[in-house]
Amino acid sequence: MSSQPKDPPQARFWNVEDVPGLDFDPFMEQTLAQGSLARVKLPHGEGEAWLAAKYEDVKFVTCDPRLSRQALVGRDVTRLAPHFIPLDDAVGFADPPEHTRLRKTVSKVFTTRRIAQLRPRAEQIVNRLLDGMERCGPPADVMEHLNTPFSLAGMSELMGVPEEDWPKMADWTRKVISAGIGRAVSEQAKEEIGEYFDALATERGRSPRDDLLSHMVAAEREGGLSRRELVAFAVLMQISGMNSVRFNSANMIYLLLTHPEQHARLRREPELLPQAVEELLRFIPHRNAVGMARVATEDIRYGEVTIRCGEPVYASYLAANRDPERFAEPHALDFDRDFNPHLAFGNGPHYCVGASLARMESEVMLRALLDRFPGLELAVAPEEIQWRRGELIRGPQALPVTW
Ligand code: HEM
Repeated sequence: MSSQPKDPPQARFWNVEDVPGLDFDPFMEQTLAQGSLARVKLPHGEGEAWLAAKYEDVKFVTCDPRLSRQALVGRDVTRLAPHFIPLDDAVGFADPPEHTRLRKTVSKVFTTRRIAQLRPRAEQIVNRLLDGMERCGPPADVMEHLNTPFSLAGMSELMGVPEEDWPKMADWTRKVISAGIGRAVSEQAKEEIGEYFDALATERGRSPRDDLLSHMVAAEREGGLSRRELVAFAVLMQISGMNSVRFNSANMIYLLLTHPEQHARLRREPELLPQAVEELLRFIPHRNAVGMARVATEDIRYGEVTIRCGEPVYASYLAANRDPERFAEPHALDFDRDFNPHLAFGNGPHYCVGASLARMESEVMLRALLDRFPGLELAVAPEEIQWRRGELIRGPQALPVTW
């Protein structure tokens, strides 16, 4: 740390083209190899940003209180998507202590114990969906039968969204989360889903139930958060909860079906599943490029660079998950890793709200598939799988399987 600060490195343009299948983005590989904070330009917004890829750098960027999310609001920083995913009052844009206050309003619902209580219901839904897939017969698209409806049902039931509104949720989510549908359509969908949750929160205020939204309304009544904050938080959870699990769990199935040894091992050693889920989470390149930046609120000297006040800084959790200085043979899918401090759910104050829910849902899905379809395999060659294009979250468009 004693060396003199250097001039900022030359920015590289991160074009963010679709990477085939679940390959690791070569741009991230190069950034990791570079070994320090890089300068990048992304397809939308203005200017340049810092990018942390190494594990230790990502941990620094995501924990240092001088790097603020609130300072990002209203800034047209260089970024992947034409729009920002969260509403301005969302938890993703908050800094402590406001951030801590907001997160406290839902923490009771996301405890490991409470999520464990949801497991039998999750198993019931998964089994009903797999009955449908079985009736349909092979070949079947497992995403259509399982990942998509289960992630929608899981999040919507927890939140308290009535079943007749689930199709609307799916449609709004698709529009908000898309990088390519156009800013106007995404912003409009964000507004509509916000109005929906505002109205539902008013109703839950009149007749509370044992759902996440009712908990949030109770917290609002006690002064824990404003209505705008409640709406923005609910929208972000609903969207992230559905979309992330949907594609991440489909990627897990794809990886098992293209790694027959690991697949067979899980059938032989079912107790390995929780550890396998952790390794799959580490390994999966969940998204394209990077999510939301943080902005320096003062000059920060870090190693040989100085991050100037006002500059945006990105952290890539998935690059950190492939850092050879943290993970031996990082590009190998290895269910025997006993020390796996991956950052798939982020790090620091913005650590994923739904991590325990996502873990439980992924385990329930994989367990049921392993038990009920021991001969499961892809119905087409892996090269024929169609992948999502120009999107924020990576995953297959469909996953045809046979058994
Ligand atoms: C496998 C599935 C999932 C993955 C890989 C994932 C990943 C992540 C990551 C990396 C972050 C941190 C982003 C940052 O630094 O700002 C995050 C935040 C978040 N996630 Fe997840 N997530 C998943 C599932 C879920 C679920 C099921 C929910 C439902 C509640 C959820 C809700 C959120 C919310 C609300 C935040 C923002 C937290 C904050 O800013 O304080 N996620 N997620």
